[in-house]
Amino acid sequence: MYTPQRIFKAIYWLFFGTTGQRRRVRLELARISASLFGDHYIGEDYKLWLDDREFRENYKKLSPGNPYSADRKFTLREFTRLVKEVPGAMAECGCYEGASAWFMANELPEVPLYLFDSFEGLSEPDDKDKTIPEIDFSWKSGDLTSLEEKTMQTLRNFPNIFLFKGWIPERFSEVSDEMFRLVHIDVDLYQPTKDSLDFFYTRMSAGGVIVLDDYGSTICPGAYKAVNEFMHNKKEYVLNLPTGQGAIIKL
Ligand SMILES: C[S@@+](CC[C@H](N)C(=O)[O-])C[C@H]1O[C@@H](n2cnc3c(N)ncnc32)[C@H](O)[C@@H]1O
Repeated sequence: MYTPQRIFKAIYWLFFGTTGQRRRVRLELARISASLFGDHYIGEDYKLWLDDREFRENYKKLSPGNPYSADRKFTLREFTRLVKEVPGAMAECGCYEGASAWFMANELPEVPLYLFDSFEGLSEPDDKDKTIPEIDFSWKSGDLTSLEEKTMQTLRNFPNIFLFKGWIPERFSEVSDEMFRLVHIDVDLYQPTKDSLDFFYTRMSAGGVIVLDDYGSTICPGAYKAVNEFMHNKKEYVLNLPTGQGAIIKL
């Protein structure tokens, strides 16, 4: 029951409360908004990772304008820790301004990390990338264009970064002799997702992980399709994570 006293207390907590009190109010506001306007489940807010101060500070620095991918960056960081003892290099397809690469490189600074990006944004979406009609959003070629210099600046402190500018899969052949422990595929569209899997799947070490940033995202249906088509005759299961990511652990 929302009595005036409770509403007043909630406003007070929001501005002057402890972290726990502020969180309780935010969660209640999200729950009200979801029941009034949406149909989505709101997960509870009491989670250890939200209190990881070091992660939060790094995320804020690296993605100041994007509050929406902290859970995915944290999950990627955890997968990077998981593969610490697995042999092989790391790679990322679609590095944009380097935020996710930073979390990979920071965990394993002695392991080579190969980055592939056009720096001209997305390639041309095709029919397989058509968004579900009721979700009013679609990608265009050139979306997410970034500057190579900015990415290098973000990653300047890591000696293990090798950047390959160009359209996927043009430059993959330059790392064809490597095996990989971790590959992050984050290119949003069907064709480059498929090309990335085609190249990297057979080069994964046993126990290595392919993290698929867009697998469970309703605004990237082409990525979901590409992964399922590619994996249908493989023995590994594709984890469909609540963050919207997918993950394949190579057997
Ligand atoms: C969502 S952003 C990557 C974000 C980054 N992984 C992060 O989390 O910080 C997608 C990137 O994929 C790149 N990209 C998309 N299609 C590509 C293609 N066919 N070839 C090369 N790069 C591509 C875009 O230029 C863009 O930088």
